[in-house]
Amino acid sequence: MAVQRDMQVLPEFISEQEETSLLAELEPVLKKMRYEFDHWDNAIHGFRETERSAWWPQNEAVLARVRARALPPGGAGGAPLPYAHVLDLAPAGRIKPHVDAVRFCGEVIAGLCLSSAAVMRLRHERDARLVLDALLPRRCLYVMRGTARYEFSHAVLGNEESFFRGARVLKLRRVAVLCRSQPRPQDAQH
Ligand code: OGA
Ligand code: MN
Repeated sequence: MAVQRDMQVLPEFISEQEETSLLAELEPVLKKMRYEFDHWDNAIHGFRETERSAWWPQNEAVLARVRARALPPGGAGGAPLPYAHVLDLAPAGRIKPHVDAVRFCGEVIAGLCLSSAAVMRLRHERDARLVLDALLPRRCLYVMRGTARYEFSHAVLGNEESFFRGARVLKLRRVAVLCRSQPRPQDAQH
C-alpha cells in the first residue's frame, strides 16, 4: 500500500542523551502552561504546545538531522518551516483523527517522539476500512508524506485504546517535536 511507503518510522533516531537534552530545553517553557482539555471541537485533547525556532546548539544539531532526513534541500518535500511545533500530550491526552491543514503545512510532517511510546492510527478519508496503525516508540522519528499525509487522517490513540498488534502500549506523557514543510504555493494563497 502506498500509505506504508509514505509513513516511515525510524526507531532510535535519537539517543537517550539527545532526548534528555531536548526535554531539558523544553521543560521550563512547557511547565508554565496548563494542559487544555475543555474544547470539545478541538482535534487534540489534553495538550499544551509551543513553537520554537532558536534551540540550544546541541538540540539544533538534532533538528538539523531531522530536517536532513525528512526534508533534504532540493527534495520533493519542499523547504522546512523555520520553526518546530512542540506538542506535549498529557497522560490522558489524545489526538483525534484529522488531516493537517494544507494552508499551514506542505507535503511532509516529521515527528520526533520523546518521553513515551504511542500508537498512531492512519485511516483513509474516503474508505474507512483502510487503516494502518503505526507504533511510535520513544525516541523514534516518523516521516509522513504523500498519500499518508493527504489521503489519510492521523490520530494518536488515548491510553485506554492504545494497543498495537494486540499488545498494550502504555502512553504516558508524550512530547512530539514536529518539523513540517512549508505549504505548497497553491495552498498557501487561500
Ligand atoms: C498535530 C499532530 C502528531 C504527534 O499536531 O497535528 O498530528 O505526533 N501531532 O504529536
Ligand atoms: Mn496532525
